[in-house]
Amino acid sequence: MEYNKVRGKNMHNITLIEGDGIGPEIADAVVKIIDAAGVKINWDRQSAGLDVIEKEGIPLPDRVIESIKKNKIALKAPVTTPIGKGFRSVNVQLRRELDLYANVRPCKNIDGIKTPFNDVDLVVIRENTEDLYTGIERKVDDDTAEGIKLITRKASTRIAEYAFNYAKKMNRKTVWAVSKANICKLTDGLFLECAREVSKKYPNIEYKEILVDALCMQLVQNPSKFDVLVLPNLYGDIVSDLTAGLIGGLGVAQGANIGLEASVYEPVHGSAPDIKGQNLANPSALLMCAIEMLKNIDELEAAKNLEKALFKTIKEGRILTRDLGGSSTTIEFSDEIIRNL
Ligand code: NAI
Repeated sequence: MEYNKVRGKNMHNITLIEGDGIGPEIADAVVKIIDAAGVKINWDRQSAGLDVIEKEGIPLPDRVIESIKKNKIALKAPVTTPIGKGFRSVNVQLRRELDLYANVRPCKNIDGIKTPFNDVDLVVIRENTEDLYTGIERKVDDDTAEGIKLITRKASTRIAEYAFNYAKKMNRKTVWAVSKANICKLTDGLFLECAREVSKKYPNIEYKEILVDALCMQLVQNPSKFDVLVLPNLYGDIVSDLTAGLIGGLGVAQGANIGLEASVYEPVHGSAPDIKGQNLANPSALLMCAIEMLKNIDELEAAKNLEKALFKTIKEGRILTRDLGGSSTTIEFSDEIIRNL
C-alpha cells in the first residue's frame, strides 16, 4: 500500500471502478460517505464495462489493470456482462489478470433486516480462477457445445490454505469443503483431496465435507450450523447468492477478491439495469465492501464508525431504500448514514 502524508493524515491511493448500471450511483454515494468519515483517499477513478465498450470497443482497458497493480487495492462497483456472444466478463478478466484467487463473502445477520433466521454467521470462500470459468468451451456442431471444468491441485490447495488460514485468523471453528465429488469424481475429487491434505495442518479447526445439493437444502433449513465454506468456482458463485438471500438479499451482501499482489473489493450484486439511473439503488453492499477495505488499510476507527452508522440507519428503519422495505432514494439513505456518523 502506498501512502502519502497529507496534513498529518495518511492519504491512500485507491483505484475506484465505477462500473455501469447502478454502479456510478452507488460509487458516488460511498465516496461521499467515506469522505464524511474523514478518511483521506486519493481515488484513482477508472471506467470499465458497457459505457467503455461504446467509447473504446473494449470493456476493460489496460489502464484499469495498471492502476490496480500500482495501488494494490481497488473498490469496484458492478459491471454488466453482456450475455451470449461478445466480450468476456470484466469480473472474470480482472480476477484472471490479477490472479485474485480467493473470493470471500461474509454473511452475517444485520439487526433491523427481517429474515427467517437471526443467527446466520458464515463465510463463503470461493475459488476464483478455474472450474467452468476458464472459458475453455467450443461449439462441436450446430446442435452441440461443450465446456471444460478445469480443477488443478495448485489452485485447490491454495484456496484450501486460504480458507483454513482465514478460519484460524478469525477464530472460526469449522471449514466445510463443498463439492459434487459423487458425480464429478476426478475434478471435484481432486478438490476434496487437496482440502483434506491441507486440513491435516490445522488440527484445531474441524474439517467437514458436504455435497453442494445437500448444502443448499440445509442452508435454507438451518444455516446457523455452517461456518467457513470453501467451494470450487461455480458452486461458490451460486451458493454465495443463496447465502446473501439468507441475510436480506443482494443489497447488503459484500465481497472481496483477494490475490497475493492486489485485492479488489466488490459487492455480490450486479449492475441492476432494471433500476439504473433512478436513484433507487441500495449502496449498503458497496459500503460494507469499503468498510472491509478500510480495515485492510488500517483505518480501523473510521471503519468502526461507518459500520455503526450504517447499522444504526438500517436498525432505525426510518429511511431505507426500496429493497430493504423502505421508500427512500439512494441519496436520502446515504445522507442519513452521514447524519448517523
Ligand atoms: P443484479 O444483482 O444486478 O440484480 C438482481 C436484482 O436485484 C434486480 O432486481 C436488481 O434491481 C436488484 N438489486 C441488485 N443490486 C441492488 C442494489 N444495490 N439495490 C437495490 N436493488 C438491487 O443481477 P442481474 O440482473 O442478474 O445482473 C445484471 C448484470 O450485472 C449482468 O450483466 C451480470 O452479469 C452483472 N453482474 C455483475 C457483477 C459484478 O460486477 N460483480 C456481479 C453479478 C452480476
